[in-house]
Amino acid sequence: MIPRYLINYDTDNIEKVFTDAVVVGSGIAGLTAALEISKQFDVAVVTKSELKETATWYAQGGVATAVSQEDSPKLHFRDTLEAGAGLCDREAVSVLVSEGPDRIGDLIRMGAQFDWQGDRIGLSREGGHSLARVLHSGDSTGSEIEATLIRTANAWQSVQVFEHRFSIDLLVDKGRCVGVLTFDEPTGSLIAHFAKAVILATGGAGQLYSVTTNPTISTGDGIAMAYRAGAVLADMEFIQFHPTALDRDAMPRFLITEALRGEGAYLRDCNGERFMVGRHPLAELAPRDVVTRVMVQVMERCHDKPVYLDATHISESLLRERYPNIWSRCREVGIDISKDLIPVRPAAHYTVGGVRTDLNGETNIAGLYATGETSCTGVHGANRLASNSLLEGLVFSKRISMAVMRKLAAEEDQQVEDIRFQYSAVKPVGDIDIAAERSWLQKLMTDYAGVVRNEEGLLFALSEVDKKDDILKAGFMDPAGFELQNMLCIAGLLIKSALTRKESRGVHYRDDYPEPSDRWLIHLENRYTEDMVAG
Ligand code: SIN
Repeated sequence: MIPRYLINYDTDNIEKVFTDAVVVGSGIAGLTAALEISKQFDVAVVTKSELKETATWYAQGGVATAVSQEDSPKLHFRDTLEAGAGLCDREAVSVLVSEGPDRIGDLIRMGAQFDWQGDRIGLSREGGHSLARVLHSGDSTGSEIEATLIRTANAWQSVQVFEHRFSIDLLVDKGRCVGVLTFDEPTGSLIAHFAKAVILATGGAGQLYSVTTNPTISTGDGIAMAYRAGAVLADMEFIQFHPTALDRDAMPRFLITEALRGEGAYLRDCNGERFMVGRHPLAELAPRDVVTRVMVQVMERCHDKPVYLDATHISESLLRERYPNIWSRCREVGIDISKDLIPVRPAAHYTVGGVRTDLNGETNIAGLYATGETSCTGVHGANRLASNSLLEGLVFSKRISMAVMRKLAAEEDQQVEDIRFQYSAVKPVGDIDIAAERSWLQKLMTDYAGVVRNEEGLLFALSEVDKKDDILKAGFMDPAGFELQNMLCIAGLLIKSALTRKESRGVHYRDDYPEPSDRWLIHLENRYTEDMVAG
């Protein structure tokens, strides 16, 4: 059994900070919510690294939104549902596609620069989209958006930013979330942030795998702490792998955006054959779960050599102008993408499931909201459509901020509560090599809970994770230790869900149950008290 808290503490003996709302995490989802709420109320943004060190910063491709004459929210709805393989929440998708264009307008008004082609906004095409729909800013769309949000946050006094402050656990009193317990790295002290609304926006858990496009911070902290506090998680078995991460050792793996395939780049095997032709009507632009699985087979056939992206038939000037980041990063490792093939392999990329929310981002715990990759709003179903994630963060964080502002306005005459919380059940830490345990877990998950899964491998992985009870119960006073505990917690939940879902659907592929089954057109949920509830 996982302890309720990761450390022993007593809020009467630590520093306390009181604000109307606290946002945990500083990517597109967190900052969008914080900025909006801060127009009327005090907001603290707590982030475990630097403000910009987020998955958003690394996003290349862009934001999918129906803004062109040929497109419509209806078409975007249809493509999203198709990618989601039967498990999308139609109402949530409808919100996403219809409110998306207005949220892009908000970003542009804040100063975000997207690419234009003449007098029309430039759009690229990515896997699973029936037409070009992805707004971009070169191949650094995420960093353009993140920089815009940070500039705005820095200019607004009602947003207090706390960097290098690790959020450990949620403070829940009588079914209401009233704050978050944090560890301040620079001072090594615990600090309790009390607020009337707590918004989790800590990203996903790509670090569960050895090869990932996610930054080292993506350890699922928000999902794990919500679970320990009693929030419902859903769809945890669905982890999306991106087919084309540059095959070099750097971590996170450098992504070669799917937009390059939208531009016409081919995928070739070790013999130079275009292996996606004939495998799917959209060939290289098939949904990324399909491409990834075919790549795994092809790499096996090629004795584990990578596959190759071939952009050599695309003009050098277009490659340099539209993909400057990929151009220079590949040059750094000796690849001229206008002449050489680019070696690529799949990498863990996106946590599809997360903290179950309603259409306003609220969880089953009053006052607790989740957004972005931390959340499971239902828009992605069993497989996220490319470039829908930045949009989800924008759309649902705006909805959260409206809901939070209504709540705060209704409670304006009430003080943020100062409630005493304490815990003392955690045992002292033994001799644990945190870095080695983290690498071990990443390898275990890659080998047995990765792109291709089966009962034998998943059962083995679960039994191995279960042996790590001593780590789960240890009282680290160290963010690396907290991260390891969160990763172990999520690994266990993910494996249990993957074992339970005896079919293949979306990004969840089991070679012992290779077909989808209507019996599994349901969502699997995890709760702290009773694991695995089908609903
Ligand atoms: C990409 O640029 O290929 C990634 C886009 C995404 O993950 O949605």
